[in-house]
Parts: sequence; C-alpha cells; structure tokens
Amino acid sequence: MRLLMPEGQHGRLLVTELDVTEQRRAVERFRIVAQATSDVIFERDYATGLTWVSEGLTSQFGHPGMAGGHPRSFWADNIHPDDRDAVLGLIDAATDGDAEGWNTEYRFCRADGQYVPVSERAVIRRDADGTVRTIIGSMVDLSRQKALEEQLRQSQRLDAIGQLTGGVAYDFNNLLMVILGNADLLLDGMVPDGAARSMVDNILRASEKAAELTSRLLAFARKQPLSPKLTDLNGLVVEMQPLLSRALTAEIALELDLSPEAWPVQIDAPMFENALLNLCVNSRDAMPQGGRLRIATRNVTLPDPAPDDPAQPKSGPYLCITVSDTGEGMDELTRSRMFEPFFTTKPVGKGSGLGLSMVYGFVRQSQGHVQVDTAPAGGTAISILLPRAEGAPTATADESETDARLPERSARILLVEDDTLVRVHVRNLMMGLGHRVTDVPGPQEALAVLATGSRFDIVVSDVVMPGGMNGRQLAARIAQLYPGLPVLLTSGHSRDAVLRDGVLEPGIAFLQKPYRRRELADRFRDLIGA
Ligand SMILES: Nc1ncnc2c1ncn2[C@@H]1O[C@H](COP(=O)(O)OP(=O)(O)OP(=O)(O)O)[C@@H](O)[C@H]1O
Ligand SMILES: [Mg+2]
Repeated sequence: MRLLMPEGQHGRLLVTELDVTEQRRAVERFRIVAQATSDVIFERDYATGLTWVSEGLTSQFGHPGMAGGHPRSFWADNIHPDDRDAVLGLIDAATDGDAEGWNTEYRFCRADGQYVPVSERAVIRRDADGTVRTIIGSMVDLSRQKALEEQLRQSQRLDAIGQLTGGVAYDFNNLLMVILGNADLLLDGMVPDGAARSMVDNILRASEKAAELTSRLLAFARKQPLSPKLTDLNGLVVEMQPLLSRALTAEIALELDLSPEAWPVQIDAPMFENALLNLCVNSRDAMPQGGRLRIATRNVTLPDPAPDDPAQPKSGPYLCITVSDTGEGMDELTRSRMFEPFFTTKPVGKGSGLGLSMVYGFVRQSQGHVQVDTAPAGGTAISILLPRAEGAPTATADESETDARLPERSARILLVEDDTLVRVHVRNLMMGLGHRVTDVPGPQEALAVLATGSRFDIVVSDVVMPGGMNGRQLAARIAQLYPGLPVLLTSGHSRDAVLRDGVLEPGIAFLQKPYRRRELADRFRDLIGA
C-alpha cells in the first residue's frame, strides 16, 4: 500500500484490521482538504515531537517544507518574541490539562522576516488515558482582514469627524457673512488712505481667509454644493499648467502625461482645480530640494471588488488622474491620518491640515475614490478615480471676472431669512446696491406678502429654516403660484434639504454663504439684469 503525500512531507496511517477502508478514506479526505485550502494545516505527532505541515506554509509564509516534519522549536522561534511566552504557555496549559484544543492569535514571522498576524485553532486528540497523541490544527494569515478592518475604522472615523465639522462650519459661515458684509459696507464711506481703512482691509483679509478654511471644511464634510458638468480633465490640467508652475519651485520639474483617449467625467471644475492644486502644493512641500512632479491621466476599468471589501470602488470604467512626486513620502502614521482635517506635519502657520481633507470629501461627494501609494523616502502618488461619464464634454465655461458695478436698475427684492443678524445685514447690503428690500423671517410670511399682490423682481431666500418649510420647498411653491418670479437660494451649507445627493438641481440659482457684495451684485445681474 502506498500513501500519497507531497514530497518531503509525512503522512500517517493508522491501520486496524477492522476498518482499513474507512481510515484510508479519512486520510485521503484530510489530504485533499489540506491541499485545497491556502491556510496552513498541521498535525503534530507527540510520539516523535515533529509536525507535519501543509503546502500553505510555503505558499502563504514562504517557509520551505522540512524532511521528517518541523520540530517544536521551529514554531517557537517564529512566534513574535513579545507573544511567545503567552502562546507557548497557553499550549502547554491546554495539553497538560484536559482541554480539547485552543484558539489563539499571535504574530508569526514569515520567511522574509516580516511578522504577520495569524489566528491558530487546534484540536487535541488523546488516548483513552488522557495522554496527548496528536494535535491537528490550522493557522490563518489575518493581515488582509486586519487591513480591511483598519480601513473601515479609518473611513468611519472620517465620517464622524465630517459630521462634526460640517455643523461647525455652517455656523461659522453665518458669522463670517456678517463680518465680511459689514466690513464691505464700512469701506464704502472711507477715505482711501485713512488708518481706519487699513484696519477694515485687515478685517476683510482675515475673514476671507476664514471663509476659505470654512469652505474646505464643508468640502471635507461633503456639504459643498457642487455643479458637476461633463468635463475633459486633460483640458483642465493643461489650462492650469501656468498656475501650477507658479505654485512650484524652480527646482521642481512639472511633467504632464495625459492620455489622449481620456474619458470625460462629470465634475465640478473649480473644485477639481482646487483639489489638484492642493495635491501639487503638497508634493512641492515634500520636495524642498527639488524633484519631479508628474500629473498623469489614464482610463482604467476596475474589476469586481472582493466581496469582503466594501471600501473598494465599484467595478467599471474610471478616469484615473495621478499626481506623483519624488519627495520624502509618508510613514505609516502619517499615511493613516493624512485625510483627517487639521492633521499636518508642517510647522505652525505653514499647513492647516485641510488640503487633503478637502480633496477626500470632494472626490467622495463626486462618487470617486482616492488611492494612495507612498513610502518613507520613496515618493508619493495620489490617484483620484472618477467614474466615466457619457457624452462629449463642452468647452470649459469661461467665467469672466466682473467687478461690482452699480446695478443698471433698482430691483424690488423679497428677502427671506430666519436669522435676524444675517437678515438685517443682507438687507443693508442689498440697499447699498440701490435695491428696495422687503424682509421677512420665514417662508409662510413670504407667501403672505406675495399673496397681498406686492410685486417683486426676485425672491432671495435662506435654505434651512425652522417651521416645516425650507427654501427649496418655498421655491417650488413660488414656481407654482407665481411662474416667472426668480428665486435665489443662499446657504452656509447644503443639507440634503437643499440638494439632491449634494448636487444642485438644474434651474435653482444658488449662492454660497458667506458671499461678498460683488458676488451678490453679479448674481442679480445674471438673474434679473439689475
Ligand atoms: N505628497 C506628499 N508627500 C509627503 N507627505 C504628504 C504629501 N501630501 C500630504 N502629505 C502629508 O499629509 C499631511 C496632510 O496634508 P494636507 O494637505 O491635508 O495638509 P497640509 O499640507 O499639512 O496643510 P494645508 O494643505 O491645509 O496647507 C501633510 O502635512 C504631510 O505630512
Ligand atoms: Mg496640503
């Protein structure tokens, strides 16, 4: 009789006169199972002290098989020194006592010297008198599972921080609205060179900076209103090249590697430009001695993700844009926290730690994914994957910079805003532009005023208001009752009440708070020619 085992490995066959066939089947089954699984299956013979181990030890951990089996010292030596005593103690206690087996986790050393987390389960088989005869068990590499758990923890943590920051940013926006607007109004009556004027200028500059920070926070919280359009990203990158070159140092070479077949994507172009600029500035900071910065676009078609991996992007066609540098790279700690708002390794005053937060939130809000490839001293490549969009992109809209000219005519405005401070301020702002304003604290009051037959050129309404009706519902009602009367919605954030999936419905005019007088004037000119 011949027992089929892989070369260099030992099988054992207990033959009794009574059920030879049954025993042979059992051994055969064990052999098939051991080969079919990539996990490590082992059997330790207590009489010889040697352990037979399945192929998995080589395929999973790189350790070669040993003729005759592995001695106990092989295991003991490969358990992480910090785990060793506990694991061996557990095993001894189990075999010395009357336990039926054990179940433990520890770090095991692969042939390449790297420790990986493993889970080990074993069953003890004893003689009738309790003496241990053999131990059969399995050892499973947990690295992938642990990495997935860590990924999930990270994305949950980012979600939680996002909710928190979204709320704070919203309140800040309302306050900044008042500060910015009042400073704007103060400027009006001032002599150009007065001391007070430079103070007001300082107030304006500081609040604009604060408004920029808040908008990054909103982007991270995925609450920035987006107006995605079918876009040719290559074109956008080429247009940005002069701006990017200015942002880099002379020692950094900027290379574009744009695929001529790049698929179009549906994206908010100004926000995308902002994200790309953030990535390039990070790369610049990572290359103080200079180096190479590469922006590449590629079409990729992702396969189905593994079923146990919900964090992976859905299968399908994506446009991948990668910003890579030859800079200092990131260590594991930085890598794991890079997207967190306010996480920065830069000196105080240098980095706010919001650049990548903005990139992350914006890309996720755009149904895309961010992937990172980095190593200490090994450079960094950050890829943004955006789902392919159908159709041919239109030319990027050329938004002309208009100054705040005085309106051509005075308009009648119905202002709806529940926050008294903001309402008074916005009314002043509008009156400062030469318009006539009726202001009310809520949608019901607005409808009541309209019902009296007073005529208006435009309704300007906040979006989130207490009392059961929000700005969007008010806009819908007005469209029904007074077709042709334009509505401009303003908000410091964009709760789902305003936006569908974070995206503005076509036809609704929207102005993000905090806004400056010039922006308000521009919108009036676009909407009602006033
Ligand atoms: N290309 C890169 N190479 C090396 N480290 C990077 C790179 N990009 C980001 N990092 C690390 O991630 C951290 C967070 O980046 P992030 O852009 O969010 O903030 P920041 O650049 O520090 O500040 P901010 O962008 O708000 O001015 C950085 O401080 C840096 O440690
Ligand atoms: Mg940055």
